[in-house]
Amino acid sequence: MATMKDLRGKVAVVTGGAGGIGRAMGRRFGQEGMKVVLADVLVESLEQATRALADEGVEAVGVVTDVTDYSSVESLAKEAVSRFGAVDVVCNNAGTGAVSEGYMWEHDLADWRWGIDVNVLGVIHGIKAFVPVLLEQGEGHVVNTCSGNGGFAPIARGAMGGPATAVYPMTKAAVLCLTESLYTHLEMTGTRVRAHVLFPGGFLNTGIWESWRHRPQQYAATQERHTPDQTLERVVARFESAGAHVEFTPLETVADQVVEGIRADSFWMMGPPAASDQVVSKKAASILARGEPDYLVDVLGTHAGTASETEGGKR
Ligand SMILES: NC(=O)c1ccc[n+]([C@@H]2O[C@H](COP(=O)([O-])OP(=O)(O)OC[C@H]3O[C@@H](n4cnc5c(N)ncnc54)[C@H](O)[C@@H]3O)[C@@H](O)[C@H]2O)c1
Repeated sequence: MATMKDLRGKVAVVTGGAGGIGRAMGRRFGQEGMKVVLADVLVESLEQATRALADEGVEAVGVVTDVTDYSSVESLAKEAVSRFGAVDVVCNNAGTGAVSEGYMWEHDLADWRWGIDVNVLGVIHGIKAFVPVLLEQGEGHVVNTCSGNGGFAPIARGAMGGPATAVYPMTKAAVLCLTESLYTHLEMTGTRVRAHVLFPGGFLNTGIWESWRHRPQQYAATQERHTPDQTLERVVARFESAGAHVEFTPLETVADQVVEGIRADSFWMMGPPAASDQVVSKKAASILARGEPDYLVDVLGTHAGTASETEGGKR
């Protein structure tokens, strides 16, 4: 199956492109000589990210997009095609992190709806709006951003000590499943359009830890919060107090993973073997043995078993 080796002149669309991993992917695509469409709900950050690309000589456009709204994603696809004539790579990357507190039966229903709408429906909208465009062109790549947290197994105990949110990992498990289905459905048509699932690895300094700062009104909390909102600063402090060394993985490394994965046509866009691989092996063994889910770990990579603290969540 031929893959896109030369990305020069091709067109990439990145949702959640105003910050974090999406912005890094946009920059990396630009360095490959691609034309870049950044899409995000945050207007100012989107303008800044698009301007920064243009300053580096990249042909870039920012399109304000809300991935929870299908008509908005459909407009994004139309805008990308009308601006650059094609779409070759689509990264369904927009995501929201954990804001939920307590045990999952205590989570605010608004948290569930927000997480599902952005992280799951957002990807479905991207597939529905863009895949027909790629099929029409005969080739292209769809990259869906997943996470080891959920994609492999949920982190049950969170960065702040208490139960982690169940919302985020549930949505990321869905992203893996959606991408597997997309892979087979594309295969069945005989197209050269390919599906990929991205697992950004390591500790990443992005906005996802503090998604609550940009909580949209339509998902306003319906329950009073009893614990402080998670901040990256507090998460790092907790890691350090537990004796864990905190070192951020450069976002460029994740972006490299994407470009290399497109060139190599890898379904699994994953870094080198990491601790998460052990979760995958242990989970497979647990399923095959019909055993206990002993592969569940907390955010520090230790056994998730008993919880005594009750504070906070995880991205
Ligand atoms: N940071 C990590 O450790 C990590 C690990 C694994 C996976 N991920 C995933 O990577 C992706 C990017 O997250 P990030 O870490 O760069 O965080 P981030 O918060 O920096 O970026 C996410 C972007 O998505 C945008 N977004 C949120 N809701 C949106 C909506 N309705 N429509 C359009 N855009 C919207 C945000 O405005 C933001 O710019 C997410 O899917 C996240 O789940 C992150």
